[in-house]
Amino acid sequence: MLDWILSSTLPRGLFNLYTQTFPPSPTWTDADIPDLTDKTIIVTGASSGIGKDTARALLHHNADVYIGGRNKSKIESVIDELRNETGKTAQPFLVDLSDFDSVNNAAHEFLHKETQLAALFCNAGIMAAPVELLSKQGYDIQFQTNVMSHYLLATLLHPALDNYSKNNYRNEKARVVHTSSAMQSFFIHETGIDFHLLKDGHLRRSTNINTWDLYGYSKIGNTVISNILNKQQVNVSHSSCHPGILQTELWRHTRIPGWKAFFSSFILYPSSLGSLTQLYLGTVEKDTEGLYGIPWARHGIADKRTSDPSLNKDLEEWLQTELAGYLPQ
Ligand SMILES: NC(=O)c1ccc[n+]([C@@H]2O[C@H](COP(=O)([O-])OP(=O)(O)OC[C@H]3O[C@@H](n4cnc5c(N)ncnc54)[C@H](OP(=O)(O)O)[C@@H]3O)[C@@H](O)[C@H]2O)c1
Repeated sequence: MLDWILSSTLPRGLFNLYTQTFPPSPTWTDADIPDLTDKTIIVTGASSGIGKDTARALLHHNADVYIGGRNKSKIESVIDELRNETGKTAQPFLVDLSDFDSVNNAAHEFLHKETQLAALFCNAGIMAAPVELLSKQGYDIQFQTNVMSHYLLATLLHPALDNYSKNNYRNEKARVVHTSSAMQSFFIHETGIDFHLLKDGHLRRSTNINTWDLYGYSKIGNTVISNILNKQQVNVSHSSCHPGILQTELWRHTRIPGWKAFFSSFILYPSSLGSLTQLYLGTVEKDTEGLYGIPWARHGIADKRTSDPSLNKDLEEWLQTELAGYLPQ
């Protein structure tokens, strides 16, 4: 029975849904985060939700934190709020992940200021955005924001990640945590990502696309880029996770009020619990390379399609081609 559950995508998805929707109480908590003095850490999407809670916990444990966000005044007010709560002052990391030029500028500005990066939380994301919404460069907004820009960011910041791994007194690898979702299992596409629908064009415009499928592709993509980058960046540990089903602003685009009300009352957990799994992957002393975290701070199994060598190869080649003008030569 267990073999059947684990070998088939949909049953495996249902099995994952159960364990990830109703997790046991956490046995690893914020209090278990080690001291992070001298660690410089970037959290994307730290202007709200899980990202803000992640940044707060990192500050409490003495990390030098960069608050990633696309809105300058929102970032500044989060820095003030977290300073009042923790006594520590974070720094801004202004980046619009729906624009590769902005990612490029943010990465280069950071590299100009800092030589080392101990951890990068690729946390920012959008869900169920209107299908008509495209990024600045004409890609599906969910795929560019959630996947492509994080791949670009982790690649451009590699010199600082690598430098941390080679020179830190803790003798550990730099970490990159990619925030995925259990939604990676809840759409039916045999290979995991329909590349034809990721870019504006005739095929995309003439196809009846479901925004939840596009979100699913992006969340499969988060785990696959973690695999790809683990191979490319030997000195850096990449991992990915499902943070839980949480009360955050992520639901802003959902147009099914009944769903929202249902989830809110029965299933959604407080956002602060959602930061635990990624904090675990990004800070725990033992190496977390290649792990897939599930709530709360447990080791889980990613959707079977994420480990398909063809999908890993196809996404890597597709990203290298589409990002050719932005990736280092
Ligand atoms: N909440 C859940 O139930 C749940 C479940 C599974 C996975 N996740 C994942 O958890 C991650 C965090 O989501 P959340 O629940 O904390 O939602 P959230 O409160 O909406 O936070 C998302 C963050 O991403 C930022 N962001 C969105 N588009 C951006 C862009 N173009 N450039 C830069 N930043 C951008 C947002 O910034 P603004 O404030 O400027 O919009 C915000 O800070 C996402 O990757 C999401 O897919 C969440």
